[in-house]
This record gives sequence, structure tokens and C-alpha cells, in this order.
Amino acid sequence: MSSKSTNTKLVIWVKEMAALTQPDNVVWCDGTDKEWNAMWDIMVKGGTARKLSEEKRPNSYHVNSIPADVARVEDRTYICSENESDAGPTNNWSDPTKMRTKMNEMFAGCMKGRTMYVIPFSMGPVGSNIAQIGVEISDSPYVVTNMHIMARVGQNVLDVLGDDGDFVPCIHSVGVPLAEGQKDEPWPCNPDNRYIVHYPETREIWSFGSGYGGNALLGKKCFALRIASTMARDEGWMAEHMLILKLTNPKGEVKYVAGAFPSACGKTNLAMLTPTIPGWKVETIGDDIAWMKFGEDGQLYAINPEAGFFGVAPGTGMATNANAMLSMEENAIFTNVAETDDGDVWWEEMTKDAPGHLVDWKGNDWTPDSDEPSSHPNARFTARAGQCPVIADEWEDPKGVPISAILFGGRRASVVPLATEALDWNHGTFLGTIIASEMTAAAFGAIGKLRRDPMAMLPFCGYNMADYWGHWLKMGKTEGAKMPKVYYVNWFRKNDAGKFMWPGFGENSRVLKWVFERCNGDAEAIETAIGNMPTLDGIDFDGLGMSDEDIANLMRVDTEGWLSELPSIEEYYATFGDHLPEELTKQVNNLRNRLEASKQNVA
Ligand code: OXD
Ligand code: MN
Repeated sequence: MSSKSTNTKLVIWVKEMAALTQPDNVVWCDGTDKEWNAMWDIMVKGGTARKLSEEKRPNSYHVNSIPADVARVEDRTYICSENESDAGPTNNWSDPTKMRTKMNEMFAGCMKGRTMYVIPFSMGPVGSNIAQIGVEISDSPYVVTNMHIMARVGQNVLDVLGDDGDFVPCIHSVGVPLAEGQKDEPWPCNPDNRYIVHYPETREIWSFGSGYGGNALLGKKCFALRIASTMARDEGWMAEHMLILKLTNPKGEVKYVAGAFPSACGKTNLAMLTPTIPGWKVETIGDDIAWMKFGEDGQLYAINPEAGFFGVAPGTGMATNANAMLSMEENAIFTNVAETDDGDVWWEEMTKDAPGHLVDWKGNDWTPDSDEPSSHPNARFTARAGQCPVIADEWEDPKGVPISAILFGGRRASVVPLATEALDWNHGTFLGTIIASEMTAAAFGAIGKLRRDPMAMLPFCGYNMADYWGHWLKMGKTEGAKMPKVYYVNWFRKNDAGKFMWPGFGENSRVLKWVFERCNGDAEAIETAIGNMPTLDGIDFDGLGMSDEDIANLMRVDTEGWLSELPSIEEYYATFGDHLPEELTKQVNNLRNRLEASKQNVA
């Protein structure tokens, strides 16, 4: 092993991990094209990957996992804080001492017959004071190539780390040692023994048994959300499951908006949307994660810690998200999608009509008459953010961008109107805590069931969720803080016939315009029991072909619906015991009082 680092902690850690896992070789990754090609060579030869047609999609590859390893495994994800109450009721907790023993057992010899890759990476522009450094050790070349896209990998990261800089150690193994001469599987993994383990106090990540997405690309959910949220709590900043977009009005004025939506609720589409309203422009800073720190002016400045998009493929097409499609025209990775006869990829809704013949994600022949979809619902594309046609020039600005507004949203068929503005930061925090969404395929579980997903952080908060709410409230009390305005939006309200009332996609620009104008002090609002709502002409419904009834229903304050939801909020809050900030109890009571009062006003 020739170490490329002079960092004492790093060199010792790599030695220790190599001694524990016993790989055949140790390779220090440098993030170069040469390394990218070498990894794909290994994966193509081993049957893991196929190179796509160079004419159709240059320098791009297709990989299929196995059906047992297709999504994040939340039930196998652990927060191992010293005290159970610091993990809180929404996380799986395990005693760190016991877990360390278990991990040492699982990792002992687990890389036999394999190569250990040491991947130094920066989350955020290298050297930014909001960025952080991690090092992932992995025995998966698929992880190496995905990390090339999703993070900044290379020698410059080691240079910033220097001799004594700090980093988050992230160790990952597919959990399948190879005996001498044993042939490897195309997608090695160990589904019966998956552990995605976080030690928040010592800021370490140990991931075993899965090769897929957030389980294996440890810079993303494990570091940039779970571990970073605990760093943010300790250091007075915020690590959030949020997109960041740049919004420019017809006069050329700019505002930056962040948005938290549960997994697979369209964050990527919103971050890249093509506005339907003339003269407005949306550009992308990030589509999944935001790290925000106070600037000297008291505003929150956000960076996108990632360098790529790990987006859900099915449902993405030129009609729904042309900019995402254009981002993945080359240098991209596709996982669990179908392959066309001419060496390209396809998935449901990529085009209106499906090709006549495909090889599906399980390797079987597929035609439009097949019973199953061609691609797994959580199939992914990995694409370089810099290739997005609407990436904002400043997306890598090390000082970040000042956030004027935060949007919260979930998939709600009823009760929640198209857009509501929080009365103030505390009320905004309250609205974030009550986000709920119907479940999607991004995580294993019952699809369609409503689950509370506060701030869209349910699977990603590295500590007690109620303490995290307390942190939000505390941020708002910081001296000199100029907090963003907060909005609760819902693109998914349905009418009595069960149809979505709002067209979504590019039309969401109409809501963004209202948000912009509110932040600029250019739009009126009506104060209601649930918050500030747009005036009748606040959101432009012209040309959408919506019935007056649907417009009214989309914007309606459903007083009874809200009142009947309050007990379930209180029940949910009660699960946090005395960690629940008093302010949130106050917020529920205030909301109840306002709803009751509004009933009386109407009566
Ligand atoms: C994601 C997720 O992959 O939230 O971004 O599941
Ligand atoms: Mn996400």
C-alpha cells in the first residue's frame, strides 16, 4: 500500500481497517478519469456493468443490483449514541459498545479476496468553510465511480486535510469475502446481514452488506445528513434534506429558495423546473441536501454538499424534467433500469411510448405487454451536477447563497392547501414538524401509507428528532439572525373524484413567483387560522384550464380537516416525552384556538 496522505489519523485508520478487513490490496483513489475507466473495466469484465453505446450515451454505464438490494434499509439503519434518548423514538438505537463488537465481528476478514479502495472526498466545494471532509473505505468499485460523481474526490482533498486536519471516517463493505479462486457475483451483497451504523459522538459511519445508493455512498445520507445534523447541532448550523434553487424574476432580481420534501416527492424536478410563466428563471444549486451557516449579515448561506444527482429514474423524461435528462446525456451511471436493443437505457415514462423490446432490470426480455415494469421503481441515475443545463453559475461558490425562503411539502391528498406562509420562524418550524407524506419506493416499506416525516428528515436525523426541532427554534433566536420565510406547499391535493387538482412540474413556478413576491414585499396575503394565504390574485391560475371549484378546493382552509388532524399531531408529539420543545405544544394550542375562532367567525 502506498499511502497518498501524510495525515496521521488517516494513515493509522486505513492501516487499522486493512488489518481488520484483510483485503488483497489497498488502493488510494485520486478521482481521475484513469481511475474511472479502470473501475469500469473491472466491473464490465466481472459482469457487474455494461458500457452503453458510445454514440447514444458517451462514457456511461448500466448496472443492475439484485432484487434484495434496491433501496435504503431504514430498519437496518442505526444511530448508536451513548444514550438511547439521544437517538430518540424515530431512530433505531443500539448500544455503541455492543454494536462495535458486532461490527468488528462482521468486518473481520470481510474484504478477503477484494481490493480496499480509500476514497478521500469533500462534501461541498473543496476548502469552503461550510464544506466537510470524509474518507470512505469501500470494497466496491461501483461505490468508487458513484463517489466520483456525487462528491469531490481526489488529491486536492488530501491536500486540504494536511497532516492533522479532521475527517469523518466512513467504512463500507459489501460483506462478501472471497475464498481463494472463488468467482465473484456481479452484485455482491449480504442482504441478511445489513448494518448501516452511525456513531454520532465519534462521528463515524460503518456500513455492511449493501451496495446500493444511500446504504453505500456514505457521503450522502449517512454523512451529509445523519452525522452532519449532529455536527450542525453542536456548532450552530443546519444540515437539511433540501433542494436549493435560484429564482430570477423578469427584472433580473434574484432570490434563493430551499425546499424540504420527503424522498421521491419531486425535489429534483422542482430544483430544475422550467417555469411556465414568462420572464421567470429557475436555476439549480442542489437537488437533495443543503448545509446552511449564518453569514456575517445574519442570513443563512447554503451550499450543496454534493457534486452530482442521484435521482429516481422512473417518471423522469423530457416532458417532466428535461434538464435532468440533459444532465445524464454522458458520463452517467444508471442502476436498475432497462436496456434498449441499441445499447441505451429506458425506464417507465422516459418517453411516451415504450420501445418494442427491452432487457429489463432483472435481465429478462421485456415488451410493452409485460406484466411488470421494465425498471425498478427506485431505479437511479447518477449524473454530474455540472452537466445540468440550468446549473447556476454560483453553485460551487464556497461562501454559499443567501436563503430567502424555505419550502416544506409532502404528498397530501387532502387537508393541506397549495401554499401557506408561516406566520413567523417558530410557526414555520411547527409546519416543518408536521410534514406527512404517502410512502414511496425510495425506502423499503408499505407504499401509500401516510407517514409523518418532519422536515423530510425522518430517516436522516442523526439525533433525537425533538432535540432537532429544538435546534431549529434555537437557530431562530440567534442574535442578529435574519431567518428565511417559511412556506408549506402541497402539489398533491386531490378533488372528490380522486384527481390531482394541481398540474405541478413547470406550473409550480406560479407558486415560486408568489413566494418571491412575498419575500420582496410585493404581494399581499390573507391571514388565516393556518397561516398567510395568497390573495385571490396572488397566484396566477390563468391558462391552466382549472375549474373554479378545483381552484377553490386547492386553496381552501379545511378547518374541520385541520382540527381532526390535531390529535394525531399531539399523539405524535407525545412520543418524544420531555424532549419536545414547549414551543411546539404552544403552536398546536394556538392553531386549535385560531381554527375554533375562525369557525365562530363563520357561524
Ligand atoms: C434520496 C432519498 O435518495 O431521499 O435522495 O431517498
Ligand atoms: Mn433525498
